[in-house]
Amino acid sequence: MALALVTGATGGIGQELCDILAAHGFDLVLVARNKNRLEEMASQLSTRYSIQAFAFPADLSERDAARNLYQAVTEAGIEVDFLANNAGFGDQGAFLDSRWERQRDMIEVNILALMELAYLFGNDMRKRSHGRILNVSSVAAFSAGPYMPTYFASKAFVLSFSQALGEELKGSGVTVTALCPGTTQTGFWDAAGMDPHNVFSLMQAQNPRSVAELGYRATMAAKPVALHSPATKLANIASRIAPRRLSTWLMGQVLSRRG
Ligand SMILES: NC(=O)c1ccc[n+]([C@@H]2O[C@H](COP(=O)([O-])OP(=O)(O)OC[C@H]3O[C@@H](n4cnc5c(N)ncnc54)[C@H](OP(=O)(O)O)[C@@H]3O)[C@@H](O)[C@H]2O)c1
Repeated sequence: MALALVTGATGGIGQELCDILAAHGFDLVLVARNKNRLEEMASQLSTRYSIQAFAFPADLSERDAARNLYQAVTEAGIEVDFLANNAGFGDQGAFLDSRWERQRDMIEVNILALMELAYLFGNDMRKRSHGRILNVSSVAAFSAGPYMPTYFASKAFVLSFSQALGEELKGSGVTVTALCPGTTQTGFWDAAGMDPHNVFSLMQAQNPRSVAELGYRATMAAKPVALHSPATKLANIASRIAPRRLSTWLMGQVLSRRG
C-alpha cells in the first residue's frame, strides 16, 4: 500500500487532502504543530478508511524540523510515495512595521521546510524510481503583494522551484506538481490577521475540498501546475500581459484594506 506525508494536515486544504488520500487507500503521515488534533485525525482516518495513519507533530518554522521529521519517519521504517508540502501561512501588514521573527518563520515554513522535505524525500523517491511531490503555491505567485510581500514572494518561489525541479526529474519516475489555489475558505485568513471578506469581495472564496481534489488529481496525473478557480486562471493570464507596475498597484489597493 502507498503512503502519503501531508504537512499542514490539521486545517483547511491539508485536512481535505488527507481525507481524499485515505479514501484512495493511502496510508498517512500527518504533520502539523497541534499534537492532539493530529492524533485525533489519525485515529478517525484509520478507523474510517481502514488505513494506517501516523501523527508526527512538528513546528516547521524551527530550523532542524524538516530534517528531524525525515529522520523520525525513516527510522520508523516508513517509505513516502506521495509528499504533500502544504503547510504555509501569510501575514498582512507593511513589511517594515511587521515582526521580523514572523517574516523569518514564513520563509522557514513556506520555503525552506518545503525545499528540505523535497530534497530528502525526493532523493529516496529517485532511488526507488517512483514518487509524487505536491507543493502548494497560490494565486499569489502571479504578482507582487504589497502589505503581504514575503508571502507573495514565497509562493512565487514555490511555483518556480516546483516547475524547475519537475523538469530536472523528468524520466526519473518522480513527478512534481505545483497547486495554485485562489481565495479559499480555511483558517488561513485568521492566521494572517485578515478579514477574508475584503478579498472575497473580489474573488469568490473556494471550498477547500475542491482545491484538495484538484491537487490530488493533478499530482496523480503528473501535471506540473494546477490552477484552481477562474480568478487564478485570470491572474495567470494577466501576469503575462498586464504591466507588473499596474498589477502591483492593484494588489496593494486590495491588500491594504483591513476589516
Ligand atoms: N486559504 C487560501 O485562501 C489559500 C490560497 C492559496 C494558497 N493557500 C496555501 O494553502 C496551504 C494550506 O493553507 P490553508 O488555507 O489550508 O490554511 P490553514 O487552514 O491555516 O492550514 C494551515 C495548516 O498548516 C499548519 N501549519 C501552520 N504553521 C505551521 C508550522 N509552523 N509548522 C507546521 N505546520 C504548520 C497548520 O497546523 P498547526 O496550526 O496545527 O501547525 C494547518 O494544518 C498554505 O500553503 C497556503 O499558503 C491558501
